[in-house]
Amino acid sequence: MPPIFMEPFRIKAVEPLAFPTVEERQLALTNAGYNLFRIPARQITIDLLTDSGTGAMSASQWAAMMSGDESYAGARSFERFESVVGDLTGYREVIPVHQGRAAERLVFSSLLEPGDISVSNTHFDTTRANVEHVGAQAIDMVVSSETNEPLEFGGDLDIDAVTKLLESEDGSRVRCVVLTITNNAGGGQPVSMANVRAARALCDRFNVPLWLDASRFAENAYLVTERDPDYAHLSPRAVAEETFRLADGCWASLKKDAIANMGGVIALQDSALAERLRQLLITTEGFSTYGGLAGRDLEAIAQGLLEVTDTEYLRYRAQAARWFGAELEQAGLPVQNPTGCHAVYVDAAALLPHIPVQHFPGQALACALYEQAAIRTCELGTLAFGAVDPAGGPDIAAPKELVRFALPRRVYTRNHLEYVIEAAATVAAKSEELPGYSIVSQPSALRHFSAHLAPISA
Ligand code: F0G
Repeated sequence: MPPIFMEPFRIKAVEPLAFPTVEERQLALTNAGYNLFRIPARQITIDLLTDSGTGAMSASQWAAMMSGDESYAGARSFERFESVVGDLTGYREVIPVHQGRAAERLVFSSLLEPGDISVSNTHFDTTRANVEHVGAQAIDMVVSSETNEPLEFGGDLDIDAVTKLLESEDGSRVRCVVLTITNNAGGGQPVSMANVRAARALCDRFNVPLWLDASRFAENAYLVTERDPDYAHLSPRAVAEETFRLADGCWASLKKDAIANMGGVIALQDSALAERLRQLLITTEGFSTYGGLAGRDLEAIAQGLLEVTDTEYLRYRAQAARWFGAELEQAGLPVQNPTGCHAVYVDAAALLPHIPVQHFPGQALACALYEQAAIRTCELGTLAFGAVDPAGGPDIAAPKELVRFALPRRVYTRNHLEYVIEAAATVAAKSEELPGYSIVSQPSALRHFSAHLAPISA
């Protein structure tokens, strides 16, 4: 039996859910071209599209927002933000930005030249896009399981592979090593402290900076305390502090582990680089003490960063994901194990072997869940990460056909997840009947956000 968990908070403000009828759901799907990004949120009952910017703020965060200082320069809210981020990370320089990808754009356009290499356990898709935008190359090197047994720290950087790269002729082109904690693209798997230390040593040896994409730093720290006996006695906050101090700098989307609806940050030790980043910030984001955010956002973020490392909250979050994953598995969905904290990933290719990857089994599952119960999940397979074959052949497939059931922070209760589990069981029971999809029209890049699709009739 999985451990019983309950939400370690009570609910003070509520928002009604929508319950579209089956006819409304079918019409919504047709109107949206079977693309769930195109369905209006008012026609969704449970929205598990993303854990980004979708969290519920605490009473203390709302209270802090009321004292937001909206001064253009040097606002008191910036001082609070700077001091909270500085205490947590130990970095001297703190630069607010409006969200994670803005941080990535500033960092990579200051750090990389055309032909340079950024190497990471896994670059998130916007991270990769920002590396490539400057004409540089993003290389992913994540550990893989030799026995097919799931790894405790499946987010670890493959240190041997990175060492070989750094020792090779291409080594001199490597300008940064990036650890994404947790590894979102790889199933929300954590990076171990041993791996962070090994990456640090490697970066020292080759004189390359070590950066963190710390968007889910607190969840990574909690999973370290759960999975590494050497860290079991430490608080997640202590683990997070140690992690930041092993790197030279970080950026983060604060829409995740700051439990804020908008925000991002760059924090680092190198003051000369920080000056260059601030110059770019002022040109494209905003003055260096607000970076595209309102004073009230800075307040909500500062408070959220203090709350998110609470052990009770993080334990609940990990338990909720584990329980949800186990129940979905019980309902007949092939779940990727072990679960992390922010989502459960389902292997749609295993559930729907009759649908070839070029007909998007992940999208087939996601559409079926919407049609069944107005649940929105996210395809992370060939629709999102595959590519059109330039030679006109079938689409180039993604490595996996996953559907992500993301868990917004502090938003849905166990009962809401029970509703999803019940709908998933119904869909799984009729999985053989689910149709594949073909693309009717698609843009040249990031097609999963706006492509139109149609079911393939049997
Ligand atoms: N890095 C990671 C690891 C992310 O997961 C994301 C966003 C970003 C950077 C970009 O941050 O959205 O604030 O610009 N992930 C979201 C998701 C969109 O649904 O996983 P952003």
